[in-house]
Amino acid sequence: MSRSARGMHLVGMVNPPTSQYAENWRNPLSRADWLSGAFTADLARTLERGCFDMIFFADALAVPEDGAGDYGTTIRTAGKGAIYLDPIAKAALVAGATSRIGIGATVSTSFVPPYAIARQLLSVDHLSGGRAAWNIVTSTTDAEARNLGQERIAPSGERYDRADAVVQTVIELWESWEPDALVHDQQAGVFADAARVHRVTGSLSRGPLTLPQSAQGHPVLMQAGSSSRGRDFAARWAEVVFAIGDSPEAMRELRTEIRDRARLDYGRDPDEVRVLQGVQPVVGWTDAEAEAKLAGLIAQIDLPSALAKLARLLHAAALDPAAPATEALAAHRGATGSVGFEDMLMAVSERRGFTVADLAIEQALNQLHPQLVGSPATIADELQQLFESEAADGFIIMPALYHSSFEDFVNGVVPELQRRGVFRRAYTGATLREHLAG
Ligand SMILES: Cc1cc2nc3c(=O)[nH]c(=O)nc-3n(C[C@H](O)[C@H](O)[C@H](O)COP(=O)(O)O)c2cc1C
Repeated sequence: MSRSARGMHLVGMVNPPTSQYAENWRNPLSRADWLSGAFTADLARTLERGCFDMIFFADALAVPEDGAGDYGTTIRTAGKGAIYLDPIAKAALVAGATSRIGIGATVSTSFVPPYAIARQLLSVDHLSGGRAAWNIVTSTTDAEARNLGQERIAPSGERYDRADAVVQTVIELWESWEPDALVHDQQAGVFADAARVHRVTGSLSRGPLTLPQSAQGHPVLMQAGSSSRGRDFAARWAEVVFAIGDSPEAMRELRTEIRDRARLDYGRDPDEVRVLQGVQPVVGWTDAEAEAKLAGLIAQIDLPSALAKLARLLHAAALDPAAPATEALAAHRGATGSVGFEDMLMAVSERRGFTVADLAIEQALNQLHPQLVGSPATIADELQQLFESEAADGFIIMPALYHSSFEDFVNGVVPELQRRGVFRRAYTGATLREHLAG
């Protein structure tokens, strides 16, 4: 492998039926059975055939609402978040349907007690033979707070304070059984050594957990905070960081910052933190075919729906499609609950001179993720360059269409990356932590 002994990492992001492309659910190439077990199991097996490190399930705990608390736009237009199967249920299904690929599930530190988080994820870790990861989110909306019996979502700083305490407790629960505590000595009649099973510190739980450690010890920690506090949280805890950079320079800056903070502020080995960039590939057998596919995706976008969704996102009563997008974003600062996401919308809109209509279409097309369009060789060139220039340790592949975008990537781009020696040809380890170390 050229950059170092380590290879590129790939994660497939799965949140049907909306995907990062808003019209996925209306596209004839997309499967419509997204609530079935077969849909998720087939997808996981496709990604495993492509030697992906991990399949990842996003989540939120409410149907997204506008500023007036109305969810009509989201429901009518299949807005992102209109549908979410429980990620732990999907993770357990994938554990049984596959044997090597890692499995990432999102669980919120603001609304799920640490004991429940520790048990759910370590259960998936056992059932999968050490392949689970926890995507740590703090949640962002009042709608989620209200579904869980709270009036409003706490401010970002408070959410991260709680997240620090929750993660600390979850790790202690995972480690409440020392690695060799389960002795299973049938002759001596000792099931487990009670002296090696412990309570936990702090006030959020008492322990011990009802589970011993797994084949990889405990689930991998991953996180996607982009605010300054979010980056600090990543530097402290995360083994995998999800990021969205709108240029190679921005990607490199973020990766360097997180690695530096991990080393300087938390005494961690920066190579234990893999920063993965979200990208949306549109793959054709030739560049021209890929461009035609992209044109087809854009042509299917319904502008009134896209504008309604953007207005919902920004909590705006109505938006002037011809106005500069930067003005609309400035007028609705803070609406999304995510500082980092709003900074990125602003930066991209400014750089590309977007009108509100342009921003609505881009959001409907790829949610502002960098879009890679071309033949397998063209896309492999871009990924390889980002990887080798240390802008990313790997990528979160955001599909436009389920399952065809993943099939195109696995059939076309993965063999190209393998030929170049930057991506594994076969799994060498059994656990997710071993995949990430390779
Ligand atoms: C690739 C990616 C996946 C994410 N998945 C989720 C998710 O499933 N659920 C969620 O509530 N937030 C998710 N987020 C949002 C982050 O958890 C975080 O709130 C956001 O990046 C803003 O960071 P900040 O909270 O530090 O401002 C995701 C972000 C990224 C970049």
